[in-house]
Amino acid sequence: MDWGLKNRLSNIIKPQDNRALMLAVDHGYFLGPTEKLENPRKVIAPLLKYCDSLMVTRGIQRTSVPATTSTPMVLRVSGGSSIIGEDLSQEDITVSIQDAIRLNASAVAMSIFVGSKYEHQTIVNLGKLVNKAEKYGIPVLAVTAVGKELGKDSRYLSLACRIAAEQGAHIVKTYYCDNFEKVVQSCPVPIIVAGGKKIPERDALQLTYDSIKGGAVGVDMGRNIWQSEHPVAMIKAVRSIVHGNSNVDQAYDLYKQFINEDPKKKQKSSKPNPSKPKKPNPSKK
Ligand code: 5RP
Repeated sequence: MDWGLKNRLSNIIKPQDNRALMLAVDHGYFLGPTEKLENPRKVIAPLLKYCDSLMVTRGIQRTSVPATTSTPMVLRVSGGSSIIGEDLSQEDITVSIQDAIRLNASAVAMSIFVGSKYEHQTIVNLGKLVNKAEKYGIPVLAVTAVGKELGKDSRYLSLACRIAAEQGAHIVKTYYCDNFEKVVQSCPVPIIVAGGKKIPERDALQLTYDSIKGGAVGVDMGRNIWQSEHPVAMIKAVRSIVHGNSNVDQAYDLYKQFINEDPKKKQKSSKPNPSKPKKPNPSKK
């Protein structure tokens, strides 16, 4: 592996513990203004210092991430369909490698849709992206996107992850599933787990814990962080599992503790409640 590629990878998967906490905010590329990600700048600002890297599109990076940040960027370079379009799997590469370099990307990311109508196109695109990115020492993260009709089972995910790795992806993002260890064992490159739809906080912490126990290097979590009522508390709790080896109970206790430390909450509770009648102050005459 070339020095540049190794160096960029080490920005994403921390060499101290071989773990990664990626914050995903790239959803708008096909979902538009997703719930609670309507204003990405507001969402990203308080969370940026708690993630190891940010998964982002170039539009959001340029408009909503301060260029002074030291957080590495994982740049999504694929797109071309929308949630209301004909087929979500019809993606192409939409960002040039030159633009990825201009944006100082630590990795480029794209989806492959194994088993879908556009499987061939997306897998060939992955190979081509690896050809271009490796020329400049930029790692490629392949996202094994799952179509509606395809289940998130270990047989399917093993197939998709292995195909991504065979095409030369340096990291593969996939979903957690039963027998997840099998998916990890048959994939020769590091696996990072996507959070998926919003679930209760404790369940999302369990997913994080199980993913790491099952052999993933970490999580690339979006909705379960920024759709939480307490995004900062949530990312800190997830972090305590990824980098602090907390178990689920410990992480959930921390989540509750972080909520209480939230300055917004303190501000709220110190404000007088107009609906409460004022107690008479005996010292005042
Ligand atoms: C969207 C993505 C997301 O980055 C990925 O799904 C992670 O986000 P979430 O935790 O919300 O699922 O690749 O296509």
